[in-house]
Amino acid sequence: MRKRYSLPLISLHWLTVILIITAYVLATMLEDMTLSPQKLKLYAWHKWVGISVLFLLPLRLLLRFVDRFDHRYELSPFEIKASASVHGMLYLLLIAVPLLGWLHSSAAGFSVVWFGLVSLPDLVGKDKALAEIFKELHAGSVNLLLALVVLHAAAALYHHYFQRDGVLVRMIPWLRKKS
Ligand code: HEM
Ligand code: HEM
Repeated sequence: MRKRYSLPLISLHWLTVILIITAYVLATMLEDMTLSPQKLKLYAWHKWVGISVLFLLPLRLLLRFVDRFDHRYELSPFEIKASASVHGMLYLLLIAVPLLGWLHSSAAGFSVVWFGLVSLPDLVGKDKALAEIFKELHAGSVNLLLALVVLHAAAALYHHYFQRDGVLVRMIPWLRKKS
């Protein structure tokens, strides 16, 4: 059995990371802006990038399901359980964060046209009170995602620099295992 992720899975992992950072940076830029055509453009970009995370996920999960890779290789029983829980929660948040953003947008009365090309259905009707709830839930889920990502990245770096095993190399194949 293979001892690292397949190249398509590695590519999707890092593409998702780039998309999340982009969505986050766009959202923070939006916060300080007054309403203008420029701001509306950034809103649209934020939504398109965020929706891309959601749309890439089924492909990633499908590839993960058929991937012939020993996910327990080099890990202790505790690490197997801990990483499976964190990865499971990360996958759930990769669905919840964009979905709550989409729900917020629909409830606020703004339809999403993905990259100006694909018109997405409104998930709920226009409802100001509901929009506020989804806005809070979207922001809360982003914070939870960030906290888990910090934990996840710290664990990956700990494996590489302190345990000196091949866990980080699984996701960065050109990296060398520390001797
Ligand atoms: C990975 C995906 C995403 C990330 C990381 C993300 C992140 C964020 C962040 C950090 C904020 C600022 C929250 C705050 O008020 O403190 C925000 C706001 C917002 N997001 Fe997202 N988002 C994502 C996906 C989406 C999607 C898919 C949509 C809609 C289709 C969306 C719609 C919005 C809207 C409309 C706001 C502004 C809320 C307001 O202040 O009125 N987001 N997002
Ligand atoms: C937005 C940020 C990130 C998200 C959402 C994310 C998500 C994930 C998920 C869901 C997996 C599990 C893959 C699977 O087995 O199905 C994974 C694996 C992995 N990620 Fe990330 N990741 C992020 C950032 C990072 C960063 C910054 C690093 C490195 C510092 C990293 C290193 C790794 C490694 C080494 C694995 C393989 C772990 C193992 O096989 O046990 N990730 N990531």
